Amino acid sequence: MSSNPRIADYPIDPNFINRWSPRAYDGSDISEETVLTFLEAARWAPSAYNAQPWRFVYARRGTPAWQSLLGLLNEFNRSWAEKGSVLIVVLSKTMMLPPGAKEVVPSSTHSFDTGSAWGYLALQASISGWHAHGMAGFDKEKARVELDVPPEYSVEAAIVIGKLGDKSSLPEGLQARELPSPREPLSALAFEGKFKA
Ligand SMILES: Cc1cc2nc3c(=O)[nH]c(=O)nc-3n(C[C@H](O)[C@H](O)[C@H](O)COP(=O)(O)O)c2cc1C
Repeated sequence: MSSNPRIADYPIDPNFINRWSPRAYDGSDISEETVLTFLEAARWAPSAYNAQPWRFVYARRGTPAWQSLLGLLNEFNRSWAEKGSVLIVVLSKTMMLPPGAKEVVPSSTHSFDTGSAWGYLALQASISGWHAHGMAGFDKEKARVELDVPPEYSVEAAIVIGKLGDKSSLPEGLQARELPSPREPLSALAFEGKFKA
């Protein structure tokens, strides 16, 4: 994006600070091929024991499942995400088979691993000229029922991806927030040796 106010304190690939989560989408259609490209990036995320616990249920705008996934979002998220191009519900497998084991055991990293996959997906969408926005504001139990999610999978998050729209389409309060957000300084987040409060 041309007017990105973010500045990295250390040299990183610009794609990291170019990714951000808008709410003004333009209602574009998206091809399945494009959605699969984003999911392909997610597929290559690392995971403990290479268990690959991430799963995705998606619905593209204009397809029969679109309204069903849109109906899972809370009112606030639905008000702007309805102009997105594809909705994705992210799931993770809570049980895993450790190498050499005969029985599955609870995975202690299924959410952590699946978070990596979401990050990869969002980065690929941004690199490809789209924008992904993660959402916790949706009905997870309804998602479980409506999307036929088996009990051993956790419902993690929802995502909308679309093309950037005109921010004047948003209510005033949201227009003011429609820009890449800042971050805490690295010195408040990363400590050598021991945690510093
Ligand atoms: C797991 C997750 C859940 C989120 N839930 C919501 C949400 O329900 N509604 C919303 O408007 N934004 C939501 N966000 C977006 C965050 O507020 C946003 O990512 C954060 O402010 C950082 O901004 P950036 O993504 O533009 O860098 C969520 C993001 C993540 C990763």
